Amino acid sequence: MADDLPDDSLFMRRALDLALLGTGYARPNPLVGCVVTHRGRIIGEGWHRQHGGPHAEVNALASVADQSLLKESRVYVTLEPCAHHGKTPPCADLLIAHGVPEVVVCNDDPFPLVAGRGNAKLRAAGARVETGLLAPEGRWLNRRFFTFHEKKRPYLVLKWAETADGFLAGRYFQPVAISGPQARLLTHQWRAEEQAILVGTRTALHDNPHLNVRDWPGPNPLRVVLDKNLCLPPAHHVLDGHQPTLFYTYRQRPDAPNRAYATLSEADDLLPQILADLWQRQVQSVLVEGGPTVLNALLNAGLWDEIRVFRSPQKLGAGVAAPRLGLSGLRSVENVGDDELFRYVNW
Ligand SMILES: NC(=O)c1ccc[n+]([C@@H]2O[C@H](COP(=O)([O-])OP(=O)(O)OC[C@H]3O[C@@H](n4cnc5c(N)ncnc54)[C@H](OP(=O)(O)O)[C@@H]3O)[C@@H](O)[C@H]2O)c1
Repeated sequence: MADDLPDDSLFMRRALDLALLGTGYARPNPLVGCVVTHRGRIIGEGWHRQHGGPHAEVNALASVADQSLLKESRVYVTLEPCAHHGKTPPCADLLIAHGVPEVVVCNDDPFPLVAGRGNAKLRAAGARVETGLLAPEGRWLNRRFFTFHEKKRPYLVLKWAETADGFLAGRYFQPVAISGPQARLLTHQWRAEEQAILVGTRTALHDNPHLNVRDWPGPNPLRVVLDKNLCLPPAHHVLDGHQPTLFYTYRQRPDAPNRAYATLSEADDLLPQILADLWQRQVQSVLVEGGPTVLNALLNAGLWDEIRVFRSPQKLGAGVAAPRLGLSGLRSVENVGDDELFRYVNW
């Protein structure tokens, strides 16, 4: 590339930024962005907006005003172009049909129907294909998708709010508003970003949470609730049928509108069964909002990918103890209103 042209990574960063715009809507498909350049200038861009909708490459190529330039273009795409017929025709074929001579790819696709075939198809048609540009950034962008396919379980984000003296509820499970309004807003953004939200029985019972998205645009997650003995009162919010909810139980109960019941074996550990079942149901990510029994079980089993803890300045003196974490995996500490946000990453 000539010295006076912008660096390749600039265009790939733009494609990664575009990909992010599909958050919450593209799943279970990966987040993908695409930038079309001609002699170092962007002439088209697009991203995968919605599961079932056109892929990023289709949107980007369609956005180019002068289609004759595609024959001399350099296309940046954050994930290997697909080579199979899914809900839409193969993107590799589309790039070939338009005579795109150069394609730069961030990550290869782990999906078995694609894995390497998209790049191979393009090369066989005479295109120059470079792969691996900003690959770590691309894997982070699609960490839910990669974890789901590689580890055969959903990506797990553990989240709680604790007091300065290490409690997350009062005595006898008394719910307490621990974090401030900014932290709550961020929590609703996080709920919109993950496909499911999970709570233990006592949290559902004592806090009676809605587990939906408020004060932030985005889809509601699938509510996942542990209720081994089906003890939750019918008037509780998780049973209101207002959004899809999945109950894990040892009992049998027929499904109802927006309420599904999955019966687990009492002989085996609960959480591995739940994660395997969620994987079968194509759930790519779960925000675990407690309580400490669920959180500690996941932490002890090493089953987590991110932890986000709000620590408020208030003290309770006694109550339900928060999980204890060391410094291992701590990535950042930032202020969110009056609270501190500790982020841990296991990636
Ligand atoms: N501040 C925060 O961020 C926050 C967030 C969430 C919750 N909380 C607080 O946490 C308290 C509840 O916490 P908690 O630890 O008592 O309850 P929890 O984790 O919500 O639920 C515990 C119950 O879920 C089932 N369970 C959870 N993990 C299991 C496992 N690995 N294997 C088998 N069963 C499992 C058991 O149900 P069975 O009883 O049916 O056996 C267990 O008694 C509440 O006071 C709530 O307000 C605070």
